[in-house]
Amino acid sequence: KRTAILISGRGSNMTAILDAAKDPAYPADIALVLSNKPEAKGLETAANEGIKTVVVDHRGYKGDREAFDTEIQKVLLAHDIELVVLAGFMRILTAEFVGQWENKMINIHPSLLPSFKGLHTYTRALETGCRLAGCTVHFVCADMDSGPIICQAAVPVLDDDDEDTLSARILVVEHQIYPRAVALVAADKVSVNGLRVTIDQGND
Ligand code: GRF
Repeated sequence: KRTAILISGRGSNMTAILDAAKDPAYPADIALVLSNKPEAKGLETAANEGIKTVVVDHRGYKGDREAFDTEIQKVLLAHDIELVVLAGFMRILTAEFVGQWENKMINIHPSLLPSFKGLHTYTRALETGCRLAGCTVHFVCADMDSGPIICQAAVPVLDDDDEDTLSARILVVEHQIYPRAVALVAADKVSVNGLRVTIDQGND
């Protein structure tokens, strides 16, 4: 499936997916990396890997989310994109845009959803005294961090953890599960029924 990865920053999840996609059997073809920030580190990484990159700078749209999303949609369609992967993309998308990509757009969030939607997930996990933290890959729906869950990975919270140590531990498992989740969705092995997801585990 022709796949676009949307980023805003360092792009370490993007890199994990690009690495996985080097296997000719990988079912997602990363045709485009799009960033809303020209200075995003991940753009350079993608370009070095020979991947087409596009910047749609949200600052040019003065808060007009519809116009910004319309431009992104134009770029995605121009590249025949069939699957959208959000990887540290820090813009809220309009309901209209999200509706156009129903069950075709996924995100990774650094918490065990439905706990800790939104920002500052590590601090909130620490302050709440959680013994487990982790990450979630989910389909994107109009409500932020609320779509059907495809997979999750948990890590322990240790007594002396701070935001840095906890986020680093979670990032390791993000890089493990996101490329696998992208592959499952790209291979049409994931079906959605309400909020419940079924994964076809059969051999391919
Ligand atoms: C990750 O922690 C991801 O869960 C969150 O934003 C961060 C992006 O990191 N959505 P990177 O740009 O993939 O390195």
